[in-house]
Amino acid sequence: MLKTIDTLGELRGKRVLVRADLNVPLDGTTITDDGRIRAALPTLTRLVEVGARVVVISHLGRPQGAPEEKYSLRPVVGRLGELLGQEVAFATDTVGDSASETVAQLQDGRVAVLENLRFDAGETSKDEAERLDFAKQLAALGDAFVSDGFGVVHRKQASVYELATLLPAAAGELVLGEVESLRKVTDQPERPFVVVLGGAKIADKLGVIDSLLGKADRILIGGGMAYTFQKAKGHEVGQSLLDESKIDTVREYMERAERDGVELVLPIDTVAAAEFSAEATPTVVGVGEIPADQEGMDIGPETAKLFGEKIADAATVFWNGPMGVFEFENFAKGTISVAETLSKAPGYTVVGGGDSAAAVRILGFDESLFSHISTGGGASLELIEGKDLPGITILEEDHA
Ligand code: 3PG
Ligand code: MG
Repeated sequence: MLKTIDTLGELRGKRVLVRADLNVPLDGTTITDDGRIRAALPTLTRLVEVGARVVVISHLGRPQGAPEEKYSLRPVVGRLGELLGQEVAFATDTVGDSASETVAQLQDGRVAVLENLRFDAGETSKDEAERLDFAKQLAALGDAFVSDGFGVVHRKQASVYELATLLPAAAGELVLGEVESLRKVTDQPERPFVVVLGGAKIADKLGVIDSLLGKADRILIGGGMAYTFQKAKGHEVGQSLLDESKIDTVREYMERAERDGVELVLPIDTVAAAEFSAEATPTVVGVGEIPADQEGMDIGPETAKLFGEKIADAATVFWNGPMGVFEFENFAKGTISVAETLSKAPGYTVVGGGDSAAAVRILGFDESLFSHISTGGGASLELIEGKDLPGITILEEDHA
């Protein structure tokens, strides 16, 4: 059982550190999807209402342990203030003078955001002692800790893991809700159970395919990762994204799927282009027919239709990863088609992942059309895989 905010006792006047995942997509300083900020509101509002002094901590992007203006959380602060209906203070450092002063000036029921956690090398350090040291500096700024950055609970990082060992700690509303919704997929899913995987990071997603081969009835593979599968089947993929080092692993998965009666469905056509750009001319080609100087940018129309049929009768669907370069209109059709099918499917439908979740919203789908839209990509995948997540298990034990 996860410890809840109730277990923290009276919070009026207490400084509560809230680890949120405010890692939103930015175009310069413009937020292109504020889903993660909105997802943080239930916990923040609750703490404001009980008169806590709320100190929000988060990462944004992957800075390498030093400040970098383009990863500043400043653009997020204004939007958070609008959504909370109060002015939110901002500290220009994370554990320095600005942070201490900002926290010291905080009134009951007011909120402050500290600068990007990953501007300090201690946050993501591989060295446990370094992480603990940074976590101690964070802990000095709070009386209690609420872990609510679901998107990052699979990371053993200072603000996710060590910090929870130093203060009375509890899971926030988002983390509780995510875990409950995703357990419906992991524990005895209703069948047929269909998983749709896309996106580019094949190395990150092989583990999930491995474990899903024993759980899902069908696995549909699109997006950038599909080309490594095509290559493993002996098809030419031109300039498409390819992870040569994974070809053998992928081949082994295909054999296992065949043997165990799991349907592994690959694209049957591709939208290719000569350059990676919004203006590139899209050409539909069959499998193995991507010209040597072109790359696959989206699943083709026949594949979209096939995937639609494979999703339509599912009782449980989990989707992670776009089917193509949905940011470019010419190459968004595959992702739109999968989103559309999912939005109409009668079963329990989960969209998992920062990018896929942002994609459905950016493409204009109403969130209510899906049973659950997760704020976590890697985190939701690892939960589905059945792994123990450090940021979750630490909230189950009694440390403080
Ligand atoms: C995400 O965007 O997936 C989360 O914010 C975690 O970010 P990370 O993959 O850089 O740890
Ligand atoms: Mg991500």
